[in-house]
Amino acid sequence: MMNLMTGIFPVGSHLASWRHPKSWPKVTMELDVFIETARIAEQGKFDMLFLADGNAVRSMDEPLMFLANPSVNRPSTYDPLMLMAVLAQYTKHIGLFCTATTTYDEPYLLARRFGSLDHLSKGRACWNVVTGSYEIDALNFGLSRHVAREQRYERAEEFVRVCKGLWDSWAADAFIEDKASGHFLDPSKVQRLNHDGKHFRVQGPLNVGRLPQGYPVIASAGQSEPGRELAAKHADVIFSIALTKEEAQEFYADQKARVVRHGRDPDKVRILPGVTVYVGETEAEADALWDELAELITPEVGVAMLSKLCWTDLSGYPIDGPMPDLSGEVLGMQSYRKAIDDLAKQKNLTIREMYKIVVPGAGHLTFKGNVTQVADQLEEWYRDKAADGFNIMMPVHPYSLQRFVDLVIPELQRRGLFRTEYPGTTLRETLGLEVPPRGVNPNGAWAPAKHQKHALTTAAAK
Ligand SMILES: Cc1cc2nc3c(=O)[nH]c(=O)nc-3n(C[C@H](O)[C@H](O)[C@H](O)COP(=O)(O)O)c2cc1C
Repeated sequence: MMNLMTGIFPVGSHLASWRHPKSWPKVTMELDVFIETARIAEQGKFDMLFLADGNAVRSMDEPLMFLANPSVNRPSTYDPLMLMAVLAQYTKHIGLFCTATTTYDEPYLLARRFGSLDHLSKGRACWNVVTGSYEIDALNFGLSRHVAREQRYERAEEFVRVCKGLWDSWAADAFIEDKASGHFLDPSKVQRLNHDGKHFRVQGPLNVGRLPQGYPVIASAGQSEPGRELAAKHADVIFSIALTKEEAQEFYADQKARVVRHGRDPDKVRILPGVTVYVGETEAEADALWDELAELITPEVGVAMLSKLCWTDLSGYPIDGPMPDLSGEVLGMQSYRKAIDDLAKQKNLTIREMYKIVVPGAGHLTFKGNVTQVADQLEEWYRDKAADGFNIMMPVHPYSLQRFVDLVIPELQRRGLFRTEYPGTTLRETLGLEVPPRGVNPNGAWAPAKHQKHALTTAAAK
């Protein structure tokens, strides 16, 4: 079965979606819009809802983008974990998947927040582990520059290990709450972590009981070498960015092979490329939406968006000239840049041609057409081992989400490619993943200090 996720961010993925008459009239801090989006996605039996995140207001020095583009800048948005905790109360099955950075946070605090979300949602939390794509975030955390990639990923790896150790603090049956004996908990069922590493010293235990899912589902999206390794070691879900099927297949094969090298089952790691879907009952309906959105952006904004996705200012280059070489590494998001560079070289594209390809999909692949055409493309990528499912991006919210749910989901179900019911209640059940066994730390057993031991003995003797 395919796995499908979609973004909860209520502005569609197209740069101009918020201006389209079929988009929500207002989205900024409008909780009802998020709740309704979640409900439509759950009606479609999507595996997960995704909320991307960063820790700064971006593009303030790029007037065109700042003025026109809420979807990339996210200038005013809820804290993802808080929003997901609310959405947990309005939904029953759908996974709640949000980003949190390992570069500008602490493992104890984050393990506690995701632990809380997993409890509040009865086992539907998923953490998108990012090292942070946005250089400007550094300026809000006492730094003058984004941390270098190797260091970010080194810290991320230790960060995730510490979180897992903290989630192993309590056995599932530690809180006995036995009124008759007066024992609220069983002290033999808790362990300290006593982690003393390069980046963190964390004693533990975590002040959150064993999570319904053991650990939240872990997702990751880095495509650089250390990004792929982090995902291979820890991720249950991996996003990818690929603008051609061949590129997606290369990533898929490479990533699954890495998973095997780390002793994990490749079928238990789901690879989901992003794809923006323009669908209608007819091809003409899908084309119409595409054209209406294209009308709403100027070439200057298109080039500004392309510049943003490839981390290079293209405004000084002739728009009908070739794309410049983008093979050099950047500090931030390498993945979109690499996909754009590969496609430009493969097809010898001009800047104008490239922005027209990239803008409608917000940097991701685009599938457009009637129901059969869209379902055929999704099926082909799935069967040809380019994907285990997809991160479906909606050009216009809520219109495109509702269209996908009404048209594409039933067709995928008819072909036996997608579920008709949720198999259980937790996200691990939805994804077919086991609950990880609790790791036991031999040095973490609870041992009371001397005076406490005395007090306990006295209490027991009474
Ligand atoms: C679908 C998708 C969603 C992402 N969401 C975020 C996000 O919310 N916040 C963020 O900082 N980076 C996000 N990223 C970026 C990656 O997690 C990663 O940090 C980035 O690609 C840099 O790592 P790399 O150099 O290993 O590719 C996302 C990437 C993809 C493909």
